[in-house]
Formats: sequence, C-alpha cells, structure tokens
Amino acid sequence: MNVLVLNGPNLNLLGIREKSIYGSLTLDAIQKSMLEKAADFGVKLEFYQSNHEGSLIDRIHQALQDGVSGILCNPGAYTHTSIALRDAFLGTQIPFIEIHLSNVHARESFRHHSYFSDIAIGQIVGFGGQGYLLGLEAMIRYITLNKS
Ligand code: DQA
Repeated sequence: MNVLVLNGPNLNLLGIREKSIYGSLTLDAIQKSMLEKAADFGVKLEFYQSNHEGSLIDRIHQALQDGVSGILCNPGAYTHTSIALRDAFLGTQIPFIEIHLSNVHARESFRHHSYFSDIAIGQIVGFGGQGYLLGLEAMIRYITLNKS
C-alpha cells in the first residue's frame, strides 16, 4: 500500500509560521512521526510539498502512474481557490483525505469554503500536526475496507 502525503503552499514554513494557529511542529517532524506509524502498518509513504499549483497537479498525475492507493492532502490556501487542483483529483479518481492543521471553519469566512471537501473521502481539521496521523489511520482503514 502506497500513500502520498501532499502539502501545498507555505506548509514548508511550519514551525516558523503563525505558531499560535499552526503550532510549533515542523513539516519534517510531522513526516517523521508519520513514517513511524506507517511502518507499524507496513505502508509505504511518499512526501511532496510545493508552493506551486502546477507542480502539485503534476505530482497528482504522477501518483496515478505510480499506482498510489490514496493521498493525504493539505492544499493550504489553494483549498479556497484552486479548481485546477480539484480537477486533478477528479481526473485521476485517486481517493484522498483533506487535512488542515487549523479549524478553517472557525477562521475568516474566506477559509470556510473548500474546493475539495465534497469530493474527498473526508476532512480532518483543527488537530494541528496530529491531523496527519489521524488522516493516515483513516486512509489505511479506508483502503483496507475498499480493497477488492
Ligand atoms: C491550512 C488552512 C488554510 O486556510 C491556509 O491557507 C493554510 C493552512 C491549514 O492547514 O490549516 O495555508 O490549510
């Protein structure tokens, strides 16, 4: 089972960026704890972060060729703007879970709308870096239950 963890713009700044909202864990630290959990379940994880919309789209297309089973995606601010990224998920039909460190629904109104929530398996918001671990568990369960 291969799972891709996709992070969008500014998530490379975790640990520095607006700590009162996003916490002090770095993306690297989150990814290390995910690798430990993935190893317990025998899952192979790949990580990709980009500040560029087209690069994220290319990576989703690549995931289709690689036969990735599922994607955990925090699209960052593209959550609220990117029809192109939405279309990449629709076009590839790779199951994905949308993750946000902050509770976007408790923030500015422009963060309440997501171009992904209606086409994702589900959304995990507001649990900080732990949301990625919850997402990984949820994805493993989803893939296992839906294996034919
Ligand atoms: C975010 C929420 C987005 O609104 C914001 O633009 C981000 C991070 C989150 O993880 O809480 O960059 O996706």
